[in-house]
Amino acid sequence: MVSFTKLFTLGLIAALTEASGKRGAAYNEASLVKTLTSGKSGAVSWSYNWAQEADGDMPSGVKFVPMLWGTGSVSTWTSAVEKALSGGSTHILGFNEPDMTSQADMSASSAATLYKKYITPYGDRATLISPAVTSSENSGQGLSWFKSFMAECTSCNVSALAVHWYGGSFAQLESFMTEAISTAGKYDIDEVWLTEFALDADTSGISDQSTAKTFLEKSIAWLDSHPKVGGYAYFYTANGYLLTSGSVNSVGDVYVAASSSSSSSTSSSKSTKTTTKTKTSTQTKTAASTTTTKAKTTKAAESTKTAKTTKVVTSTKKVTKTVTAHQAAKTA
Ligand SMILES: *[C@@H]1O[C@H](CO)[C@@H](O)[C@H](O)[C@H]1NC(C)=O
Repeated sequence: MVSFTKLFTLGLIAALTEASGKRGAAYNEASLVKTLTSGKSGAVSWSYNWAQEADGDMPSGVKFVPMLWGTGSVSTWTSAVEKALSGGSTHILGFNEPDMTSQADMSASSAATLYKKYITPYGDRATLISPAVTSSENSGQGLSWFKSFMAECTSCNVSALAVHWYGGSFAQLESFMTEAISTAGKYDIDEVWLTEFALDADTSGISDQSTAKTFLEKSIAWLDSHPKVGGYAYFYTANGYLLTSGSVNSVGDVYVAASSSSSSSTSSSKSTKTTTKTKTSTQTKTAASTTTTKAKTTKAAESTKTAKTTKVVTSTKKVTKTVTAHQAAKTA
């Protein structure tokens, strides 16, 4: 018989090691997600790789979120998303930085058309997340692009807003997120997903681990405790960032550490939601397995695309950096 004390202790340990359920791993190499989370089950609950397919196995407890990257990715989308949903995915990510010419580069209206055609139909099987916009304050970019998109996507069934942020301090991140949450609220969207974030100084690799650690600690505490934040992923699960030479570094340790206790209530309400969402996925199993072979064939093409994605991602940082400087000048 198990004693009360033992049960109590086990419960306490579970509570301490449980993360908020919001933390994600953005990756290019699937094996690094395993490295990041090894021995830290529950710290990371979801992952994405800017692609439609996981391109490797995720550790148990880490749900892959497929992304329809841009206009060029639609041909393989249906088979890939069916496969992801039958594999347990509960969320779908829209286009990657459509507000940037160096990224998905889409007008709000063409994005809305493609979203309605390729993502909206999955609204009863997954939580649909908007295209991920940057933190640019230029007109036609960032949240301004998102507003134009929503004007054209009123029947798209978007349940969450995805944003990216690069900047100089935690205070700037908090201010941007507060603005994003309020913008989302105008469209009755009550979740914001921060699917890329880091300090400007760390976009091509972490320049100072101690600075990055402090920034990440503050950010995680805020993101975990904010009820309107649905998910977040630091940029990113790779060597030079959360890992060094294939091992989790001191910044990575912060990322997989237990979250603040204030987040546990968010986590339980979240998992209830997830359970209802997954229900329909079994229905599609048969259809999905037929398309598996097809999806495999496109893997090579897909991974080439992914490799390109990261490269381009780096160039966006530069764009964002300029914007931040502009922002700083404005507030000065
Ligand atoms: C729209 O999204 C909600 C929440 O994800 C879902 O419950 C509902 O079934 C979706 N509607 C349609 C028509 O797919």
